[in-house]
Amino acid sequence: MSVWAVIVAAGRGERLGLDRPKAFANLGGRPLLAESLERLEASEWIDSIVVAAPPDWEEPVILLAEELGCGKVVAVVPGGDSRAASVRSGLAEVPDDAAVVLVHDAARPVLDEAVIDRLLVTLNEGWDGVVPVLSIADTVKRVDGDQVVGTVDRDELVVSQTPQAFVWPALRDAAAAGDDAPDCAAMVEARGGRIKVVLGDRRLVKITDQSDLELVEHWLAVSK
Ligand code: CTP
Ligand code: MG
Repeated sequence: MSVWAVIVAAGRGERLGLDRPKAFANLGGRPLLAESLERLEASEWIDSIVVAAPPDWEEPVILLAEELGCGKVVAVVPGGDSRAASVRSGLAEVPDDAAVVLVHDAARPVLDEAVIDRLLVTLNEGWDGVVPVLSIADTVKRVDGDQVVGTVDRDELVVSQTPQAFVWPALRDAAAAGDDAPDCAAMVEARGGRIKVVLGDRRLVKITDQSDLELVEHWLAVSK
């Protein structure tokens, strides 16, 4: 059974506001992308890796993979204008005979092998896809502009993270539909696919702004 990972790293990182794409933000002295690349390379589950790079940054991604000794990286392709388009660019490199595909945001560097374990063990129970999720700690308000119009029952809400794991034909067919879904599970859901949730990881935060970068830098420094 071959397991492929697609890392989507092609975003501009506008909210981080650097002079380079977010995948090349400095995280503890090296590009942010290095962290998830290295962790997927080291994963017992993963056979091959595809990276969707920021357009014109394919070469630096290839060099980074070589520097890190990431022999599982088989393709680096330019991403697209939206996350969904970048996912499709990456998936185009996955062969028909792959069994399972994980799609991961480069923007989530602190990827623990335990999360991948949970995803793939559960996928093998017969789901089309599995996503890591977290319950919401804060009270959730519905607003109209800056006015509160209600309080949402958070018991039926979770937030979803990546990596998300799928049976390859289920994701391939769903992604081909071409919509601009915010995550891969939404593509599969839209076609009636059965998606299971497993526990995510609070450290698997998505780096969005400078404060996230500082937080993750701190975690990495204390875990070394
Ligand atoms: N992504 C991508 N291609 C895009 C947009 C996003 O591959 N056209 C990837 C990002 O590189 C990131 C993940 O999707 O790993 C989640 O996106 P997000 O956190 O929104 O990153 P950016 O789009 O880069 O950031 P911003 O929205 O602040 O510009
Ligand atoms: Mg974005």
